[in-house]
Amino acid sequence: MDSQEVVIEAKGLTKKFDDFTAVDHIDFKVYKGECVGFLGPNGAGKTTIVRMMYCFLPPTEGELTVAGLSVHTQCREIKSMVGVAPQEDNLDPDFTVIKNLTVYARYFDIPKDVAVKRADEQLKFFQLEEKRDVSIMALSTGMKRRLIFARSLLNQPQILLLDEPTTGLDPQARHLVWDEVRHLKKQQVTIILTTHYMDEAEVLCDRILIVDRGKIIEEGTPAELVKKHIGEDVLELDYDEKLLPTLKEAFPDARFEKLGDRMQIFTDKPHGVFEGFLKEHPMQNVTLRKANIEDVFLKLTGRGLREE
Ligand SMILES: Nc1ncnc2c1ncn2[C@@H]1O[C@H](COP(=O)(O)OP(=O)(O)OP(=O)(O)O)[C@@H](O)[C@H]1O
Ligand SMILES: [Mg+2]
Repeated sequence: MDSQEVVIEAKGLTKKFDDFTAVDHIDFKVYKGECVGFLGPNGAGKTTIVRMMYCFLPPTEGELTVAGLSVHTQCREIKSMVGVAPQEDNLDPDFTVIKNLTVYARYFDIPKDVAVKRADEQLKFFQLEEKRDVSIMALSTGMKRRLIFARSLLNQPQILLLDEPTTGLDPQARHLVWDEVRHLKKQQVTIILTTHYMDEAEVLCDRILIVDRGKIIEEGTPAELVKKHIGEDVLELDYDEKLLPTLKEAFPDARFEKLGDRMQIFTDKPHGVFEGFLKEHPMQNVTLRKANIEDVFLKLTGRGLREE
């Protein structure tokens, strides 16, 4: 973050669908040039939050400004300046790939020749050149995702909203998206990203907001969150009841979690504490790894599936 200029601000932002509260009085600020990740289980409210940012859905209560403009009264201006890659596929199946881009560019009053040039550049970058003139129906799921991202860049937005941009992408395509996000960050584009890939959030996001049941339950830089909630290292080993007393004695303050036939041990003790133990108690099937955002996510939002 290079400046303290607030680009997106929510105050008491709330969205209700009938009597169900999907987004529940949340407050947050996003600063210029930041990439902020919204992480949360299925149904947490991430897409609803993003949709309110680009005026797809009106808030039920509270304030939300994007580039200083209110989503209650200035939707036209907001829509003209943000780039949006929605979670759902809203490509037009009746058009070809290139036409999907050029028709979209018309909403932003981009002259036809400029639109075609930019569209071709994006198709090249996202390795969709060969599909330029085919129907949307002829694209694979991952190709459609790439096209939706490419389309969000046509108006050269300073604010970019990416709702699960890499879901369904192969590793090569995912890295292409990451490269583009990094490139945009260098140009001070402000980016909102939702993702279920914790490694993606860790490498791309300057700050992470964890959303659960419509509320922001935690926020911070990836490193801050890992340090605060998990610690430095995680020890994973086969679950063994006989070993438990020894482990509990060695790590009295640690958190133990059983996962099927494996066990994880989390401690806020400094790096190296598990190595010493393993030297004294050699074991098989042991993994010693760095704590990560996925550990934080599972600790804060639980391990149960969300099927509300
Ligand atoms: N148009 C709608 N009408 C009624 N309920 C809705 C509507 N849109 C979303 N919801 C509900 O609001 C909650 C939040 O949905 P949302 O799509 O924002 O979740 P999400 O965090 O994006 O989940 P996912 O990770 O699955 O994309 C869910 O319980 C969902 O069923
Ligand atoms: Mg969603």
